[in-house]
Amino acid sequence: MTKNLRLQDKRIVITGAASGIGYAAAGLMAAEGARVLIADLNEDAATAAAADIGNGAVGVAVDVLDETSIKAMIDRAVAAFGGIDVLCNHVGGSDPRKDLDLLRLDLAEWDRAMALNARSTVIACRLAIPVMIDEGGGSIVNTVSVAGLTGDTLQCAYGAAKAAVIRLTQYIATQYGPKGVRCNAVAPGAVMTPSLSGNVSADVIDEIRSHNALDMIGTPEDIGWAMVYLASDESRYMTGQTLVLDGGLTAQSPIASSRRKLLDD
Ligand SMILES: NC(=O)c1ccc[n+]([C@@H]2O[C@H](COP(=O)([O-])OP(=O)(O)OC[C@H]3O[C@@H](n4cnc5c(N)ncnc54)[C@H](O)[C@@H]3O)[C@@H](O)[C@H]2O)c1
Repeated sequence: MTKNLRLQDKRIVITGAASGIGYAAAGLMAAEGARVLIADLNEDAATAAAADIGNGAVGVAVDVLDETSIKAMIDRAVAAFGGIDVLCNHVGGSDPRKDLDLLRLDLAEWDRAMALNARSTVIACRLAIPVMIDEGGGSIVNTVSVAGLTGDTLQCAYGAAKAAVIRLTQYIATQYGPKGVRCNAVAPGAVMTPSLSGNVSADVIDEIRSHNALDMIGTPEDIGWAMVYLASDESRYMTGQTLVLDGGLTAQSPIASSRRKLLDD
């Protein structure tokens, strides 16, 4: 008897998936039977990623800061696959050299971070939801961050933009749930991606790990599996939620890591 794959024949659009977490998620989704449209600013990398993951994946260029470009991405998915079952608004971030504490924050970076993380999600959802409703519904998976759940010393634009997407996730779930559209988010803690290892030194990464309950830093696949679950019908009773995958960083008391060190001494 043939085993049913978890995402058999799902048609998935995922932005920013030419590298890092998005690439891993796209690969897991294709292996579970999905047809995946990988959309990324880097068109060559998107095309190469699509060829790598296979199962009819398509790589396209998108700049999520540009509404016309997002529309072209959605149109391309409909033309290639005949519809969209899952939209993953995965692109995000901010420039840590400009996104500082409130007093030193570059306001242009505030606007860019809001556009990259939140406005892009609004636009893509506005275009994809009618397509989903036409076929009885779908699932939206937004990538946020633990930075959207608590305060921190730097990157206040990034944190505020991810917090906006967490609340937007609840509004979309509320407004389109009756039409069969679910909307959830994944909130990663630190994940070992090229952008983390490229921007953060090994001792800072060790320091981050010491604040997790689990003695590890997550891999892109650790987040990708959660995205597979939210994309699939296994999560059909779940909407408006933010699934936190952070090694226990936000679950434990802020003093737990120093207490643990005392116990170890
Ligand atoms: N890596 C982490 O530790 C971590 C932690 C929490 C949340 N996140 C979130 O996960 C998501 C992906 O992070 P990552 O570290 O895997 O990223 P990454 O830097 O490895 O990959 C980002 C991809 O997005 C593409 N991209 C950048 N700007 C774009 C634009 N304007 N339009 C389209 N594509 C664009 C890049 O070309 C790249 O392929 C982001 O939303 C990020 O905020 C990451």
